[in-house]
Amino acid sequence: MHQVPGVKVLYFGTPVVLISTRNEDGTANLAPMSSAWWLGPYAMLGMGSASRTTRNLLREGECVLNLPSAAMADAVDRIALTTGEPEFSDRKRAQGYRFEPDKFGTAGLTEQPSELVAPPRALECPIQMEGRLVASHEVAGPEVNATAFQVEVVRTHVEEELIVPGTHHVDPVAWDPLIMKFCEFFGAGVNVRPSRLAGGWRMPPLRTPA
Ligand SMILES: Cc1cc2nc3c(=O)[nH]c(=O)nc-3n(C[C@H](O)[C@H](O)[C@H](O)COP(=O)(O)O)c2cc1C
Repeated sequence: MHQVPGVKVLYFGTPVVLISTRNEDGTANLAPMSSAWWLGPYAMLGMGSASRTTRNLLREGECVLNLPSAAMADAVDRIALTTGEPEFSDRKRAQGYRFEPDKFGTAGLTEQPSELVAPPRALECPIQMEGRLVASHEVAGPEVNATAFQVEVVRTHVEEELIVPGTHHVDPVAWDPLIMKFCEFFGAGVNVRPSRLAGGWRMPPLRTPA
């Protein structure tokens, strides 16, 4: 039996991406996002239009999509309520966001030069995709002011231990992506830590199958 509970948040589960972009002064910005899916060589991304990432990506046309493993949830959470944009909305301020120009340092992650694009990769992320902007589209509505991006992945780097020996394949058992469901972090189906983004909301206790 299904119900219509009036669900307001439709984030049923997507991978967390740490997107790096280049600021105007040449330094790097890094932001967690999870409105991301892939179509052939393209990544389709949704980012708030007022975010530093959107401004950087529209201006520079390049980014790196760094995929953290579930084990990296702490690093992601350290920059969960930060923005690289000095001017941001009161709504965001009320949610607890603060301006942070050094996202890599705050997350405890290391900048690693990319091969084809200017923004750096995040060394600790087992999967890193260098990307170039193909198209963007404004998504405006009553509760959203965002930009949808089509980014072409021009080079993909994969941690050696995740590659099935002698193949070009990523081992899907070894690869444990950090997944965002609603506002909580999951890995291998397990809530790996509470998320700051979830605010005061608490996870119900996990149920074990009968
Ligand atoms: C796990 C996680 C996933 C997020 N997903 C998105 C997303 O898909 N799109 C978005 O606009 N913001 C998302 N956010 C919020 C952004 O990280 C936030 O707006 C941040 O301030 C953007 O940083 P920037 O202004 O430096 O670009 C997410 C935050 C977290 C912690």
